[in-house]
Amino acid sequence: MVMTEFGVSDIAIYIPPFYLSHEDLAKARGVPAEKYLDGLGNHKISIIPNWEDAVTMAANAAVQLLDKTGTDPNEIQQLVVSTESGVDHSKPVASFVQGALKIGSRCRVYEIKHACYGGTAGLINSIDWVSQNHSPPKKALVIMTDIARYAFGSPGESTQGAGAVALLVEKNPRLFSMNTSLNGIFSQDVFDFWRPTGHRVPIVDGKYSIECYLRALEGAYTHLRSNHGIEKGRFFERVDYLVYHMPFGNMAKKAHRQLIDLEYDGLNPAAKEQIFAETFPRMVEPSLLGVREVGNIYTGSVYMGLISLLETEGENVEGKQVGIFSYGSGCGAEFFLCRIKTGIRSILEGLRFKEQLDRRKRITFETYVQTYSKSGEEILYHPAEIEAFKDSFTRFVFTGFRDHKRQYL
Ligand code: CAA
Repeated sequence: MVMTEFGVSDIAIYIPPFYLSHEDLAKARGVPAEKYLDGLGNHKISIIPNWEDAVTMAANAAVQLLDKTGTDPNEIQQLVVSTESGVDHSKPVASFVQGALKIGSRCRVYEIKHACYGGTAGLINSIDWVSQNHSPPKKALVIMTDIARYAFGSPGESTQGAGAVALLVEKNPRLFSMNTSLNGIFSQDVFDFWRPTGHRVPIVDGKYSIECYLRALEGAYTHLRSNHGIEKGRFFERVDYLVYHMPFGNMAKKAHRQLIDLEYDGLNPAAKEQIFAETFPRMVEPSLLGVREVGNIYTGSVYMGLISLLETEGENVEGKQVGIFSYGSGCGAEFFLCRIKTGIRSILEGLRFKEQLDRRKRITFETYVQTYSKSGEEILYHPAEIEAFKDSFTRFVFTGFRDHKRQYL
């Protein structure tokens, strides 16, 4: 009997057209560049211009996905946008996106928030929804969109970034399926990173946030192993690649070391280091392209890691098992396994991730400060200016407010 499966059929990413280099940030802040490049493992910060926001990034990612999968917007019956960069306390980003993409009215539309974990919550919820509503089959569009911003000069500043990821969820998916009941889960009420209402940037207890992340990894891994019946010390035999939530590149190293400690707790440090040296380049390194080039994109971060893996490894990923660890401050985490389908060449060709990264322009430190000092309320663009902001990836832009209503073109 052929099993009906549910999961992700395709994936798309949108990255804004500007970046700040870590060399320039380090020079301006009087910090050795090696701290950012080697100590944190980040090279560039994706910078969002004032004519974009969480809505335009979400729509720009999703329109690529609809185009490349040949999906009619009216086929989408659930639209979920996960973000911690919302533009309104009441109206969800998802409604603005529904308008931009001309998605029909017979669609459940909502926004989810749980820091960086919100994207995974939206994805799991949509897979479950599609699996319970599959006759006739349904399609869900899940989008993660965020601007990772920290206070000027704060330790988090070097881990900023911006971008959005969109996933198409359906029956008999083409990229990977998932049995969500086997996922490893961990959550706890902690203050590691939070943004009280009215604050433009978060309050961060940076070192404690790393501790919380690693504790959540332990909890979710233990639950995942137990659900899949995987013995301790045999986990790496069951997984080909690992994609960790990455606020900065070297967080993946800390996470991978933690997993090795948990798996092989009886081994001495030198033997563990040998396992790290053998497994990290093979299992984890291919997912690091995005975080190095873009920085943190909060909800989309771990899915940008998955896109990086697909872009870097190409058809080598076919048939391989990928472990994905998603973490959100506050905190919530989920660790799941997904086996990549075969015959995914057209999905890989449609990613165009490197092309998007290469199209970006480098801005100066002064332009970065000027851009991030302004708020959207100060802006109203003339329609003649707007065409210059658009390219084949930036198809939706924010033009300012009219009668307290956000305007998009
Ligand atoms: N050359 C090379 N390396 C150097 C160096 C130099 N000159 N100077 C310092 N380093 C190394 C340090 O040794 C350190 O490495 P290890 O962690 O491996 O020891 C690394 O560079 C960073 O240095 P510091 O620890 O001194 O850095 P910091 O205190 O200034 O800030 C941070 C680090 C706490 C992560 C900060 O960037 C931060 O607050 N970031 C935001 C919060 C965050 O990302 N938390 C992660 C977990 S929470 C999460 O994942 C949710 C989310 O998305 C926010």
